[in-house]
Amino acid sequence: MHRSANKSKLIMNSNRRSAISEGYRNLRANIQFSSWNHNLHVMAVTSTQAGEGKTTTISNLAVAYAQEGKSVLLIDADLRHPSIQEIFDVTNRTGLSNILANQCSCDEVVRITEIENLSLVTAGPIPPNPTELLSSGKLHEVVEGWKEDFDIILIDTSPIMAVADGLIVASISDGVILVVNAGKVKRQYIQKSKERLESVKAHILGVVLNNKKFNKSEAHQYNYYGIQ
Ligand SMILES: Nc1ncnc2c1ncn2[C@@H]1O[C@H](COP(=O)(O)OP(=O)(O)O)[C@@H](O)[C@H]1O
Ligand SMILES: [Mg+2]
Repeated sequence: MHRSANKSKLIMNSNRRSAISEGYRNLRANIQFSSWNHNLHVMAVTSTQAGEGKTTTISNLAVAYAQEGKSVLLIDADLRHPSIQEIFDVTNRTGLSNILANQCSCDEVVRITEIENLSLVTAGPIPPNPTELLSSGKLHEVVEGWKEDFDIILIDTSPIMAVADGLIVASISDGVILVVNAGKVKRQYIQKSKERLESVKAHILGVVLNNKKFNKSEAHQYNYYGIQ
């Protein structure tokens, strides 16, 4: 059976001409513009808390890059709350956790999607020890291998306030996008997230201010990209 991606969450695929899709294309362009002197091959998205819009942002950004003609690999490294499989309506029987636990080869878990140029690695079964698996060095090794096959690798992660998983992924990425639901998370926690990312020498590409209407004066502190 041919299954289609979750249309409500993957606006880039269902309505390319909407204002929101334009927002994701702007995000793609702003990333390129803000990092002209960096080689951006691997990018991660993270946030302070759950539910701020990481998965929505990275999935739509992946489609935006694929539509531009780049070969894209989207990896779900949120091993605690995997959700890429729901957005793209695929199974999550095997995935990244199997690779990290040496139960599968890399090629076995890469899925092509109905979206041209876009492949996926879902998170796989939820492991008992996500932080340990992510920090073993294996993640870096497999991502290095995938760099040979894909122009852009985008990685979804866990929120960084409670666990180290997102920081580990950020530290092996060339750049990180911090998604902020500003109506939901206190400013001091966002600042803390920024400091934690800086402590692992993550290169913060910018902040996606998700789901909020804001005036320009609020945008002075970070390099903000608004997606509403
Ligand atoms: N810009 C947005 N506009 C409307 N709904 C959004 C937006 N971003 C995220 N959502 C919704 O908010 C919920 C949480 O988003 P999600 O991307 O899963 O967050 P996270 O991955 O950070 O936990 C989802 O139901 C998603 O569809
Ligand atoms: Mg998520």
